[in-house]
Amino acid sequence: MNIKTEVRPADAEGIARAAELLRQGELVALPTETVYGIAADARNGEAVSKIFVAKGRPQDNPLILHISEPKELESICHDIPAQAWLLAEHFWPGPLTMVLPVRDLVPKRTTAGLDTVAVRCPKTAATRELIRLAGVPIAAPSANRSGKPSTTTAAHVLHDMDGRIEAILDGGPCEVGVESTIVDLTGERPRLLRPGGVTPEELRALLGELDIDRAVLGQISNDAVVRAPGMKYKHYAPSAEVYIISGSSEAAARYIRRRFGPGDAVLCFAEELPLYDGCNPTAYGSENDVRTLSAGLFAALRDLDRPDIRTIYARCPEGGGVAYAVGNRLKKAAAFRVVDAEHEV
Ligand code: TXA
Ligand code: MG
Repeated sequence: MNIKTEVRPADAEGIARAAELLRQGELVALPTETVYGIAADARNGEAVSKIFVAKGRPQDNPLILHISEPKELESICHDIPAQAWLLAEHFWPGPLTMVLPVRDLVPKRTTAGLDTVAVRCPKTAATRELIRLAGVPIAAPSANRSGKPSTTTAAHVLHDMDGRIEAILDGGPCEVGVESTIVDLTGERPRLLRPGGVTPEELRALLGELDIDRAVLGQISNDAVVRAPGMKYKHYAPSAEVYIISGSSEAAARYIRRRFGPGDAVLCFAEELPLYDGCNPTAYGSENDVRTLSAGLFAALRDLDRPDIRTIYARCPEGGGVAYAVGNRLKKAAAFRVVDAEHEV
């Protein structure tokens, strides 16, 4: 692979060029409100195959289809339950993906051979315009090398994908910063496969019930059969070992400072920076505003992905809402290693 990767602003000209490339079966990175995606024409099996190569992504990990209008769901899925339309009405365009039975027109390479497909209608206006102009459903996984944190700026995408894709549409930093919430609507009860910007509380309020998939709750072994195949792989991981240190700010700082040495890094809330004098801490957002934490997490994990850093001590928000999604990504980066500083010395 040695393509000259173009970076273009997400203006009318950039969008027109990107649409043309997509129709020709090429790969283009595009901004969404969650994270950047690598897009290809979902109906072109060869174009879709290039995504797996560019990312180094396992073939058994299916892609999300992106549509420009909620009503396009009908052309991709069949037996769509009323719950899906209810969710679409409330959360589309937005950071919600639904898993539904797929129609035959979607190639097996896109769905990894499953009889279901994940679909979402992103919020970013430029990207919806691009999908509309391209005139095809767009398959788009996150625009990172497989296993690395998702990308939330065009610079991150270029870092991972330079020479591997035709173009990057630069729409600035992503607002949400973690990938979309995924809900599987093909079982007896709706099931949360991945938490995101649409919260479990919001989903329960509309659906009345929501199961949480075990892949959300803990580490899954590589040979396990899971509902969202992507959830079993190592994710969001810088090369360092990440440990989450829970407990009060003070107890965590005591625990970390006692152990801190060469090759260590601290990832904390902005309010905690003064507690880590001399440790060169990195803050990813404010503890009092979880949206800043979700927007800043992946950029911070990327900053700390350096050969000189071997251990990252990380502070993680607790509780529901968007904090649930941030906690999930950080715990996955940490392979679910959590130390309670209140009970350790
Ligand atoms: O926010 C997002 O969803 C971003 C942006 C670019 O839209 N996309 C994204 O795609 O995060 P990706 O490929 O990185 O993650 C898709 C996840 C994977 O864990 C995959 O296994 C799961 O969705 N998935 C895809 N199709 C599925 C299906 N039919 N059933 C269950 N899980 C599915
Ligand atoms: Mg991904």
